[in-house]
Amino acid sequence: MAQPMIIAVDGPAASGKGTIARALARHYGLPHLDTGLLYRAVAANVLREELDPAVEADAVACCDFPDSLLDDPGLRTDEVGKVASIVSAHPLVRAALLQRQKRFAQQPGGAILDGRDIGTVIAPDANAKLFVKATPRIRAQRRHSELRKAGIDVTFDRVLADIRARDDRDAKRTDAPMRQAADAALLDTSFLSIEAAVQRAIALVEARIAAKA
Ligand code: CDP
Ligand code: CDP
Repeated sequence: MAQPMIIAVDGPAASGKGTIARALARHYGLPHLDTGLLYRAVAANVLREELDPAVEADAVACCDFPDSLLDDPGLRTDEVGKVASIVSAHPLVRAALLQRQKRFAQQPGGAILDGRDIGTVIAPDANAKLFVKATPRIRAQRRHSELRKAGIDVTFDRVLADIRARDDRDAKRTDAPMRQAADAALLDTSFLSIEAAVQRAIALVEARIAAKA
């Protein structure tokens, strides 16, 4: 790789963006940040302190946490994901987490970040941007089977309703809503295996880099 490369990967819940971002990080030897974990950490703090996620000042008071919290498996639950999408709509919460993400993106060797606003807000000058999507039903099937494997008894309809509610909140908020950047390549993983989705992602990144060279 001739120069530091920044890759932005965005998309809705269970689109496969995390799996793809981790595979790209391995392929290109880049450090990776799952930015959803930052919002999940704020949400976990709000829940622990029994605060109201809809109150901006309560959520802002929970934005100061060590990186070590990001390794906590407790952040990955659906309840934390739901509360994360509530706290993430507050402009002051987004502002509190902004520099941490920009610093990660701008480290000298390059980086890969996945989330909702990487290509639009965090790294608008990224060398390559992907927007990963899949139909809501397929995303709900993926999440449902993950939950069942983890021994969590929940209906498919409940998971689908949660996915739709989260999509709606993330796409409709006024500050940094989830959307495909104008220069992002669209990758629909609905009918792709993980392996095929990763190969397609690498091909799209290579095409973007070649086009900019
Ligand atoms: O990060 P995000 O929430 O977008 O999704 P993920 O955690 O990468 O993927 C959600 C689930 O879908 C995982 O269980 C993946 O193994 C699965 N997946 C899949 O079945 N097919 C793909 N092409 C990509 C992911
Ligand atoms: O893995 P999954 O796609 O289910 O969720 P996540 O990426 O961990 O994100 C959890 C929540 O954090 C999302 O529903 C968004 O509301 C918020 N988020 C955000 O607003 N901006 C980001 N860059 C990443 C996540």
